[in-house]
Amino acid sequence: MGSDTSRFIVFMVFSSLLSSVIGGGGSGYDPKALYALFRYYANQTLAIHHRTGTLSRVSLPSNFSGMEVSVVRLRSGSLWGRGVNSEFVKIPPSVRTLPYVKRLAIVYDNMGNWSSKYYHVPGYSLVSPVIGFEVYDYTDLTVGNSTLNVTGEPISIRFPYLDMRVKDVTRLKCVGFGDDGSVEFKNMTERDVCVTENAGHFCIVIPALTPSLPPPMLEKKGRDWKWWVIGCVIGAVGLVVSVSVGVVVLRWWRKRKIKDMEKESDSSVALDTFWVRGDHKMPCASMIRTQPALEHDYVP
Ligand SMILES: *[C@@H]1O[C@H](CO)[C@@H](O)[C@H](O)[C@H]1NC(C)=O
Ligand SMILES: *[C@@H]1O[C@H](CO)[C@@H](O)[C@H](O)[C@H]1NC(C)=O
Ligand SMILES: *[C@@H]1O[C@H](CO)[C@@H](O)[C@H](O)[C@H]1NC(C)=O
Ligand SMILES: *[C@@H]1O[C@H](CO)[C@@H](O)[C@H](O)[C@H]1NC(C)=O
Ligand SMILES: *[C@@H]1O[C@H](CO)[C@@H](O)[C@H](O)[C@H]1NC(C)=O
Ligand SMILES: *[C@@H]1O[C@H](CO)[C@@H](O)[C@H](O)[C@H]1NC(C)=O
Repeated sequence: MGSDTSRFIVFMVFSSLLSSVIGGGGSGYDPKALYALFRYYANQTLAIHHRTGTLSRVSLPSNFSGMEVSVVRLRSGSLWGRGVNSEFVKIPPSVRTLPYVKRLAIVYDNMGNWSSKYYHVPGYSLVSPVIGFEVYDYTDLTVGNSTLNVTGEPISIRFPYLDMRVKDVTRLKCVGFGDDGSVEFKNMTERDVCVTENAGHFCIVIPALTPSLPPPMLEKKGRDWKWWVIGCVIGAVGLVVSVSVGVVVLRWWRKRKIKDMEKESDSSVALDTFWVRGDHKMPCASMIRTQPALEHDYVP
């Protein structure tokens, strides 16, 4: 009757668990889709500002607030001969594109406070925004990107607003993100300068304080639980034993007391018991030990 319903519920629970595990790594934040949008808006910007060699700010829709994108149009010969500098990225001379393109466009982006939404480095924390650049054929930015061939000095990226709370500079590492989501460690020349031989996206990270392994608390919890059960069992057994012993002792004591009372009922006077300060129990004789019996009283 209800087995179909319960099977369905179990299935739903499992599938939602599974999807949360699979899609856990930042679902909805696809860097590739984002760069396609950057390229699209950069293409629009270039249609208006087509002066070669000047960096133009790309205007983005308001829901991109926090990200910065700019674009520059260049001749290949200019890149080879003089290189090109932007706010954060320095491309020295002696760099050419693969495949060769006569005119190219470089799209620079700073992902700002969105960086950690799009990128995670397992075991590390991001301490700078993700900064990147891609090189495209100017004739149509949407066709595809180019890779670079660096034959001289490497390209350097200087990171803005590096988290200054990081005291131990030697722990800082630069990472480059591959298009397939891979992470590659890069050399650094200064605490905030990363070097690379190609276009891509880069960030400064620091080993995370919290280990990625589950903390040992879980195991300890299990052990605590075990001891708790053992303690409960021992306690229950102890309680049963002491209650039965108590009952036996009480019965025996009562029997004895009755016997004693029967024996002493005539001769002795029971002493009243009073509670003194609540914790000491002491016998206390009443003021008048024996009622004065009148001689002529009749005895029943
Ligand atoms: C890119 O800009 C050019 C004009 O500069 C335009 O012809 C082309 O359609 C644009 N591409 C897209 C995908 O908007
Ligand atoms: C902004 O909205 C558009 C659709 O309106 C969406 O494609 C884009 O991903 C959004 N931007 C961000 C940063 O999520
Ligand atoms: C980044 O900051 C802007 C405001 O400067 C805000 O509108 C945006 O929602 C923020 N993005 C994230 C992912 O926190
Ligand atoms: C750049 O091009 C390569 C193939 O040439 C592609 O795999 C990669 O996704 C492209 N990157 C971007 C940001 O478009
Ligand atoms: C890069 O340029 C150097 C020097 O011109 C050349 O020897 C090398 O083959 C080029 N690399 C690629 C991948 O084409
Ligand atoms: C990084 O540094 C090492 C040692 O200084 C050097 O061998 C290597 O070529 C450098 N890598 C890059 C990409 O500059």
